[in-house]
Amino acid sequence: MTDRMVAGGRVEEDAQYEAGLRPRSLNEYIGQDRVRDNLEVSIAAARGRSEALDHVLLYGPPGLGKTTLAYVIGNEMGVPVRATAGPVIEKPGDLAAMLTNLQQHEVLFIDEIHRLPPAIEEILYPAMEDYELDIVIGQGPSARSVKVPLQRFTLIGATTRAGLLTSPLRARFGIVHRMDFYALQDMEEIVRRSARILGVSMDHAAGREVAMRSRGTPRIANRLLRRVRDYAQVRADGRITVDVAHAAMKLLEVDDQGFDEIDRKLLRTIIEKFSGGPVGVNSLAAAISEERDAIEDIYEPYLIQAGFLDRTPRGRIATARAYEYLGVTAPEKDSRLW
Ligand SMILES: Nc1ncnc2c1ncn2[C@@H]1O[C@H](COP(=O)(O)OP(=O)(O)OP(=O)(O)O)[C@@H](O)[C@H]1O
Ligand SMILES: [Mg+2]
Repeated sequence: MTDRMVAGGRVEEDAQYEAGLRPRSLNEYIGQDRVRDNLEVSIAAARGRSEALDHVLLYGPPGLGKTTLAYVIGNEMGVPVRATAGPVIEKPGDLAAMLTNLQQHEVLFIDEIHRLPPAIEEILYPAMEDYELDIVIGQGPSARSVKVPLQRFTLIGATTRAGLLTSPLRARFGIVHRMDFYALQDMEEIVRRSARILGVSMDHAAGREVAMRSRGTPRIANRLLRRVRDYAQVRADGRITVDVAHAAMKLLEVDDQGFDEIDRKLLRTIIEKFSGGPVGVNSLAAAISEERDAIEDIYEPYLIQAGFLDRTPRGRIATARAYEYLGVTAPEKDSRLW
């Protein structure tokens, strides 16, 4: 999708490392306390009643651990997770086959569930609600509909765009959780855990340096850690010290907010070209030559959460922090007087 160092989306190289770094149980899962506590209760209750867990919808920015959590849920329920993704399912029969193959209480994980074609999504309605498939056999006047019973299963859907989910689909999830960017403290724990698993020696303070620049996103933390490890190996004695971390980040052009050139360009454009805003997302997209979707899904959420950008009904505005960060003097309220 993008080769930005600090993008939350997954790139090819992340995939081979992620499997090994993924927490497997709720206990190992760091942060997202509210989500974790709630799931712990739901899972214990379902297990206690020997029932399938209610259907779960997980949404939030890329790289925060939705897929990880889906597998954690499977492990905690003691069942396998069968995984697929919205854009991969092309024919209704593909989904029907997956559903009929599910054993009791098993998990079907559908990533990017907002990208299911409508005709396929409709199959899910009776499947989720009544554990039943509605299949039409034959064509024309002789066509008839038959109902095929399914095992009681759990659907886990993940999406970065909850707003794009249709309301009938959304309404069929009994458990809905929004994932938030991680607190710095949790990010530090994640970086140290990953360093341990990768077998890299890293000073305590250096872990904080990596965590600070990871935009509250575990995937970015793991990626930065790998690059810093490379730097430590090639330009130092292999140990990640604060100095090594700083030098490596400088080379990667990731600053101490975890911002890269695109973030700075976005903020600078709002301030210089649109007098600090408000500016509509379409105008902003055109001005920085990026897709509107990319701004809304990838760049903007963290800038907003970190307090550099505000979203108002009339568009985006740069906050005082953004001015300060770029070293630009914020205009006075009555700047037209001078
Ligand atoms: N709570 C956590 N504790 C430790 N590591 C985590 C945690 N959550 C995620 N990670 C790490 O971050 C990586 C990315 O997580 P994951 O693939 O689950 O993100 P995602 O939300 O599914 O992203 P996408 O929206 O791109 O599918 C994982 O491989 C894992 O190593
Ligand atoms: Mg995922």
